[in-house]
Amino acid sequence: MASWKPSGEALQQLKGIVRRFPLVPVHGIPLMEPISQQWARVEHFEARPDDVVIATYPKAGTTWIQEIVDLILANGDTEKSRRAPTQVRIPFLEYCVPPPLTSGIDKLENAPSPRVMKTHLPFQLLPKSFLEKNCKIIYVARNAKDNLVSYYFFDQMHLMQPDPGPWAEYMTKFMEGKVPWGSWYDHVQRYWEERANHRILYLFYEDMKEDLAREIRRVKDFLEVDLPEDVVQTIAHHTSFQVMKDNPMANYDSVPSFIFDRTKSSFMRKGEVGNWKNHFTVAQKEDFDADYQCKMNGTTLHFRDVL
Ligand code: A3P
Repeated sequence: MASWKPSGEALQQLKGIVRRFPLVPVHGIPLMEPISQQWARVEHFEARPDDVVIATYPKAGTTWIQEIVDLILANGDTEKSRRAPTQVRIPFLEYCVPPPLTSGIDKLENAPSPRVMKTHLPFQLLPKSFLEKNCKIIYVARNAKDNLVSYYFFDQMHLMQPDPGPWAEYMTKFMEGKVPWGSWYDHVQRYWEERANHRILYLFYEDMKEDLAREIRRVKDFLEVDLPEDVVQTIAHHTSFQVMKDNPMANYDSVPSFIFDRTKSSFMRKGEVGNWKNHFTVAQKEDFDADYQCKMNGTTLHFRDVL
């Protein structure tokens, strides 16, 4: 692989465009302005039958499952998985920056098969080509409260996302789906329902925390990769929170500080289930839960009890 490191010139160009982008609705879903501006390219993206799509709501454990999938496809070769940072190894489908900088689609169009890509698009905005070609989709969902807290800290550090504002206001925005990629509630439910119609492996962050090797086995079976148990254990070790946190190819250390303000938060922040308890007041929890019951009423999708 050619060097993944951006040239000084590319970094300067990037620096020139970095700002907290406003949200623009695309088919009713708030997306960052640069994505909306290049939406036609995303919408008409040409899938290949052996594409693997990693789909998540932001902050559900995307980077974690990316590392797992990359390692499974590399038969557990940890050296190979260190060839480049996550975002280079597994491009972000809808990530758009103004030309001549390289968008996710530019990277993917030039990538050899089989391609693996990440997306945060809700199911209804996925390019139709993926469904027509019956591509495999791996979805990871995370309980709403931890997902929200993680997103709040991320939006503080990520200087291209809208400013999250104060915590209480952010919580309301999340509940109303007025954050990038829209409503968590719709996102997780729609992929859950579509499992019946498409090749979707639906995973839970909380299950991965409970027994990572078990979930890795599910992923490798879905990808039809035969791996002995000792390799599964190697992958589980390599994708533990602490090992990933210390791995510059898996912890987003490569993202310049003019995009990730690490004085606000670190990317590998806590990696816990139930961290929300340190951030919600009793009243906020009650309001959130009441609203949750309404929005999730009637679904068979249940997150484990993190109340
Ligand atoms: P926290 O902010 O709660 O720590 P995404 O990759 O979708 O942006 O999600 C990031 C969240 O996943 C962060 O959550 C991060 O710490 C967590 N995460 C990343 N790798 C992990 C791992 N190996 N184990 C547990 N959590 C992980």
